Amino acid sequence: MVETLGLIGTGMIGGSIGLACKKAGHVKRIIGYDTNPESLEASKALGICDSIEYTLEDAVKHADLVIFSMPVHSIAEEILQAAKYAREGVVFTDTGSTKAEICSLVKEKIKGLKPVFVPAHPIAGSEKNGPTAAHAELFKGKLTILCPLENTPAWALDKVATFWQGMGARIEKLSPEEHDKIFAFTSHLPHLIAYALAGLLEPKHVQFTAGGFRDTTRVAGSDPALWAEIFKANKGPLLEALKGFQEGLHKIESCLKSNDFDALKNILTKAQQFRRKVQ
Ligand SMILES: NC(=O)c1ccc[n+]([C@@H]2O[C@H](COP(=O)([O-])OP(=O)(O)OC[C@H]3O[C@@H](n4cnc5c(N)ncnc54)[C@H](O)[C@@H]3O)[C@@H](O)[C@H]2O)c1
Repeated sequence: MVETLGLIGTGMIGGSIGLACKKAGHVKRIIGYDTNPESLEASKALGICDSIEYTLEDAVKHADLVIFSMPVHSIAEEILQAAKYAREGVVFTDTGSTKAEICSLVKEKIKGLKPVFVPAHPIAGSEKNGPTAAHAELFKGKLTILCPLENTPAWALDKVATFWQGMGARIEKLSPEEHDKIFAFTSHLPHLIAYALAGLLEPKHVQFTAGGFRDTTRVAGSDPALWAEIFKANKGPLLEALKGFQEGLHKIESCLKSNDFDALKNILTKAQQFRRKVQ
């Protein structure tokens, strides 16, 4: 049981955590904080938080678990700022979609400070943002990746794992670097491709789009500012994934140019077999 949760960033992910905790009943009290007063006040009105605070210090000083859910480029700085106000032994965790940069910025500087940091990333989300898009079931049956640092104590890792499991999530552990390589392929590249494809069409094409286009480009409806920062934070692994994708496109292109439709069918069949395994 968490006595007091500090919910820092009360947007779609932070808001969904608040609602999921309320439903699970494994947190006694939730204090919200967000730099955008509209999001913050909406989170109180929507029942995401029990109370809200207008300073980071007031949101953190009584908490025994603090979760940071803001754009990836602000997470490390916010954690180190909040560490000044935290109680001894408090656990800090986050929801950032990239992990290596955040971990390398935090791990040395947090040593000797009061909080313990357990980096995390829930593999659940949507193209919508803000607390009005939050929902209590978002994490049910979904993975949450934990990326413990070399000095993360087992009790803190257990506390964060239990917290996510209480919301119905399953837990996997990866190193921050492994995490970023994998999610470059399974999340960041698909977003990049969706943006590229949606950006290719002109307004006159809208009336001719249907399910195929909508399914393939759904995530291009996501916040461009949030995703530009994710691409920036995971630039190296994302460029590697993009290279693999370009090679795949070239193979398809050469099948078409050389009229090798058997080879093309083999490529499509292999892709279909993989896609059918995805739930
Ligand atoms: N959108 C997804 O599908 C998804 C999935 C998993 C993880 N994530 C990660 O979760 C985090 C939050 O994403 P989201 O989709 O909830 O975005 P969101 O835009 O819905 O919410 C982010 C909130 O953070 C607030 N904020 C910005 N800077 C802040 C700061 N310095 N201090 C406090 N609050 C601040 C914003 O005002 C906003 O309310 C991101 O790191 C993202 O990478 C997103």
